[in-house]
Amino acid sequence: MMPPVMAETEETRDGNFFDAAPYRLLWRFFRYARPYRAWVILALCLLPLSTLLQLWQPLLIQQAVDQHLIPGKPEGFAGLLFLFVCLIIGQFVVGYVQTAINTLLGQRVVRDMRRELFAHLLSMDAGFFARNASGRLTNRITNDTEAVSQMVSAGMINLVGDLLLLLGVAGSMLFLSARLSLVTLVAMPVIVLGTMLITQKMRTTQREGRLLQARMAGHLTEEVEGRETVRLFHCQEKNRATFDRMNRDYLGTALKSNFYEAFQFSFIDTTSTLVVALLFLYGGAIRVESGITIGVIVAFIDYIRRLFFPIREISGKFTTMQSAITALERIFALLDTPTAIADLPQPRLLAQPVRGEIGFQGVHFGYGEVPVLRGIDLHIKPGERVAVVGPTGAGKSTLIKLLNRTYEPQRGRIAIDGVAIDQLPLAVLRRMVGMVQQETFLFAGSIADNISLGDPSIGLERVRQAAVETGAMAFIEPLPQGLQTQLSERGTNLSAGQRQLLGITRVLAFSPTILVMDEATSSVDTLSERLIQEAVERLLDRRTAVIIAHRLSTILHADRILVLSAGRIVEEGRHEVLLQRGGLYARLYALQFQEK
Ligand SMILES: Nc1ncnc2c1ncn2[C@@H]1O[C@H](COP(=O)(O)OP(=O)(O)OP(=O)(O)O)[C@@H](O)[C@H]1O
Ligand SMILES: [Mg+2]
Repeated sequence: MMPPVMAETEETRDGNFFDAAPYRLLWRFFRYARPYRAWVILALCLLPLSTLLQLWQPLLIQQAVDQHLIPGKPEGFAGLLFLFVCLIIGQFVVGYVQTAINTLLGQRVVRDMRRELFAHLLSMDAGFFARNASGRLTNRITNDTEAVSQMVSAGMINLVGDLLLLLGVAGSMLFLSARLSLVTLVAMPVIVLGTMLITQKMRTTQREGRLLQARMAGHLTEEVEGRETVRLFHCQEKNRATFDRMNRDYLGTALKSNFYEAFQFSFIDTTSTLVVALLFLYGGAIRVESGITIGVIVAFIDYIRRLFFPIREISGKFTTMQSAITALERIFALLDTPTAIADLPQPRLLAQPVRGEIGFQGVHFGYGEVPVLRGIDLHIKPGERVAVVGPTGAGKSTLIKLLNRTYEPQRGRIAIDGVAIDQLPLAVLRRMVGMVQQETFLFAGSIADNISLGDPSIGLERVRQAAVETGAMAFIEPLPQGLQTQLSERGTNLSAGQRQLLGITRVLAFSPTILVMDEATSSVDTLSERLIQEAVERLLDRRTAVIIAHRLSTILHADRILVLSAGRIVEEGRHEVLLQRGGLYARLYALQFQEK
């Protein structure tokens, strides 16, 4: 069964607050906050306190104006002032603690998510990576988790506080003067609707912007990685034009998004000023007969300012939450994608010592619809050395990828020592089947670490021994730091031959029972060729081996040669026998091997 390709949902999700799915995602997200619930509770407890501190301030101003400033009575004013200062300091302290908690919470929760995502990615099968662009997967772990972290630190908890403040302000206004509140209330629908409309627009452009940005980043990565090809074929001009276009598109969207943001701010500013003006007019007109004091009007102005603040905050936070929900949707989709190749609940183990016998029975496989291997039957005896040859695209590399379960056949059975490989624990299987790839992937790090791959069971002594056996030590020893020499990313500070030698040493260090090798096609000089040949000989010693042959010596030394063509084994036997038959092998030999 093929797991579904993860859809990029950024384009499809449009913020509908009545949709149930977002809440389900949030609910699932809350599980990640569970270990930090003490923090959450503390933050929630601080909310009413912070609301109270803010609501109290205008009331004090009203008191100061009505009871002290207008009548000109200084007694008690100092106390009032002191209380006011205390409130402001209190608000500052509480606000600071809240921000600190939110940030801590956001970062911790997201660290846990990243850890889980990474572990999950590592467990995925090769087919998954073929279907999902690496840039997109990287995005899940970096940008998407960042969006989630922003949701938490921008104050998912404070959203509750904003609502609280909104209600509190409305309540205090009603308490102070119902008639004045009515005036403010009239203006509310305009403000709320206006803000929501602009926020919606802003969100759309922001989403568009992020997409364009991601596209630009993807393009950039490709350019940097393919820089040599770009230079060789001299396509800088064309590529620059492509980049310019992307850059321009992004600029347009970014400006539009900034415009909406600025517009939102001035819209809120202007309307709030208008409401204040309205309040003055109306309050002044009815003041005489209704007994509304100057202090009440001043306090109202302050409240209105405080009323607009949560409105703007809430719409802003919804925007952040919207992107976070989109991100969560994609993160969970990734976490929910099962790996196609996993251990059985109760895997079997091979009888020790492992003999290294391989059997293929009626194996059919295709990466997609097109069949690549079409009925492979094969029996390889323990210790036998088999060379695989065939025209390009015949399925040779595919054949050996099935042997360590990089892919799984759609039909048929592959067994080692008579046990189907899908019954073995993957870790055991991959340790047993050592694979030398055409290109050795080297990581940035020391040579020793690149050989042991950080496996604790492979100590420095084993590494050294393996390097001596393959002859890699000959070039490692003279380096100033020897085995501790640092390699650059992908080992670009080594030659092609040296990289191959390290690849062979790596496999030897793991001492597999079965050796699978895709011989490198890249040409190395005769000396390295001989060195590599010797290294391979050490590796092949007493091991069952399946080698995709590109070298003459490999086929000459093989116990048996398999000729693969269009997914079938069309000929097999020893070199001389096959040559005499004058079939595909004879033709391939003449083309590929003879002149070397
Ligand atoms: N990851 C993949 N996804 C889809 N199709 C693939 C993939 N890898 C290989 N194929 C297809 O499978 C077929 C067999 O490929 P394979 O790599 O096994 O050929 P090969 O015999 O090793 O060729 P070569 O000698 O050129 O290395 C080819 O037609 C190829 O297009
Ligand atoms: Mg190949």
